[in-house]
Amino acid sequence: MKTIDYQTLYEEIDSDLPPVTYEKIKKPAGHGLKKVPDTMAQIIHSQDDSVDSFQFTYHASRHEQSWLLESLGSIYEEHWISDILRMVKGGKEATVYLCKAGHLVHVPMLAAKIYRPRMLRNLKNDQLYREGRAVLDKDSHIVKDLGMLKAEHKRSVYGEQIRHQSWIAYEFQSLKKLHAAGADVPEPYEMGINAILMGYIGDEQSGAPSLNTVNLRRAEVRPLFDRVLKNINIMLDHQIVHGDLSAYNILYWDGQITLIDFPQVISPLGHRCAYQIFSRDVRRLCEFFARQGLKTDPSSLAADLWRSHGYHLRPEIHPRYLDADDPRDRKLWKEG
Ligand SMILES: Nc1ncnc2c1ncn2[C@@H]1O[C@H](COP(=O)(O)OP(=O)(O)O)[C@@H](O)[C@H]1O
Ligand SMILES: [Mg+2]
Repeated sequence: MKTIDYQTLYEEIDSDLPPVTYEKIKKPAGHGLKKVPDTMAQIIHSQDDSVDSFQFTYHASRHEQSWLLESLGSIYEEHWISDILRMVKGGKEATVYLCKAGHLVHVPMLAAKIYRPRMLRNLKNDQLYREGRAVLDKDSHIVKDLGMLKAEHKRSVYGEQIRHQSWIAYEFQSLKKLHAAGADVPEPYEMGINAILMGYIGDEQSGAPSLNTVNLRRAEVRPLFDRVLKNINIMLDHQIVHGDLSAYNILYWDGQITLIDFPQVISPLGHRCAYQIFSRDVRRLCEFFARQGLKTDPSSLAADLWRSHGYHLRPEIHPRYLDADDPRDRKLWKEG
């Protein structure tokens, strides 16, 4: 099977986009999307007085403090959390904080994942994963408003806000589906304009390490690999391909694994590279387990998992997703 060079793919897709122009924000009435500030200055000036009473234990820099208030203020006001205790980890796209749970929640601690301001994120990859995905709003509902959908296509500030919210909503919605289905993922509690509140894995001193930093005992290698496969099966049952699955996005705590980091999920049916993205996930996992002494055949494993859920190795793409001006799409149309 022809393998896809993702770097070239990102670049090709990226070069198709019009240059970034920052238009004045036009906000259609009643779309319900709270404006995410664009600059730190805006963040500082836009602070809501009602969250003034939110003073937390974690010693943040002035800018970070403003960012935390902006991102977690409403979650605090609604009593999901009562304190921010410390930073757990800054990742590629987000920073995760340990929070003391508020009285709405019956666990002592929660993790708040706060996404980076849009201008500090690597938006390059978003484009690849957004293919075939409906746009979701702040309540994880599919956006049907034509004005918002048009804006979503544009490289305007308002369009970026919609994409940012949709990106976060995909993570929240996937966690909800997978948690309800019994997968090993943190329990999702609440989604804000820029944050997700979920179950915390770890203890007061430290968050759970990622699996890539752990040397497994020989006896746990096979059972944990099987557990990962169980989770992949649940995901495929629910038409979810993680899209960035590797030992970096699996936490290990007390001998158990937890899969994290879902904003880039894609559907096995709606994306023309779905199988390539899925097999990359499987390959990366197999590479980690191979270093732990478990030999597997990633290509045949990926193909078997995929087929056993009724998906085809060559995706059947709905004509709606094909672009007549794209030579790759025209090739698919002829071959299909
Ligand atoms: N629920 C959680 N409990 C404990 N630590 C977490 C949790 N979620 C994320 N983390 C920590 O935060 C890091 C970044 O989170 P992640 O969702 O992977 O975002 P990124 O896209 O920035 O990689 C993780 O590598 C992990 O160390
Ligand atoms: Mg991650």
